Amino acid sequence: MTGETGHALRGDYSRARPDCTVDQDWEAYTEADHDLWRRLYGRQASLVPGHACEEFIAAMDVCDFGAAIPRFDAINAKLGPATRWQLVAVPGLVPDLTFFEHLANRRFPVTVWIRKPEEFDYIVEPDIFHDFFGHVPMLFDPVFADYIQAYGRGGIKAHELGAIEMLARLYWYTVEFGLIDTPRGLRTYGAGILSSGGEIGYCLESPNPNRIGFDLLRIMQTRYKIDTFQETYFVIRDFRQLFDATAPDFTPYYEALRGREPHAPSAVLATDRVYHRGTSPARAA
Ligand SMILES: [Fe+2]
Repeated sequence: MTGETGHALRGDYSRARPDCTVDQDWEAYTEADHDLWRRLYGRQASLVPGHACEEFIAAMDVCDFGAAIPRFDAINAKLGPATRWQLVAVPGLVPDLTFFEHLANRRFPVTVWIRKPEEFDYIVEPDIFHDFFGHVPMLFDPVFADYIQAYGRGGIKAHELGAIEMLARLYWYTVEFGLIDTPRGLRTYGAGILSSGGEIGYCLESPNPNRIGFDLLRIMQTRYKIDTFQETYFVIRDFRQLFDATAPDFTPYYEALRGREPHAPSAVLATDRVYHRGTSPARAA
């Protein structure tokens, strides 16, 4: 199995079940693993105020997962009653359809392994820190949690229709790199940002990137880069907007967009609702 970049995946898939889940085997983590987690957590937790949306911050307090690599079953005991979601352990990236089927059934796949110390600032593949710190708190928000399930259902359909590339852009620009307009200013709810030491400040404070109002079809037509900070961020008003915009059947959208040349990651269109027009290209992450 290979990831988006074509290289061999890092995880141990030899003991994975047909749905790609494994046991977390929490006892196998070393003290060095827990120490690395604490350092990653400490750095990101210090950056969250003023950058993350309130929903994320509130859930961090509920999760209370800073002291050591969290046990998934302990978090599930809190997450289940909150939004009926469950975490499942996976060796790493999983095939698209498997991923969508988990989400459609309110199961969020979380990678079991943690990065190496030298990858403290940047890692190519998602590890447990990205998957857990970035994604899990948002699953405690009821509207966002429903959006992720709807995305999974949409993904199964997109898989049938050959439209995954378009749908993946929606995930990228919302779940991974989304911004939200709040009474206190722009904040982020995107896991790719929230788990990044550099992008969490860059996405809100740098003059370089564009910040543009959420537009579903525009996003599904916009390419993205995986190896630099984003050149454009899309801003939602609230999670209800996200859920409502993505509730309809996407089949006619795919038909309308198919064959159109996608927009460059840096593009600003005349039809965009521009919060901020970027001043220069993104730098390497
Ligand atoms: Fe992610």
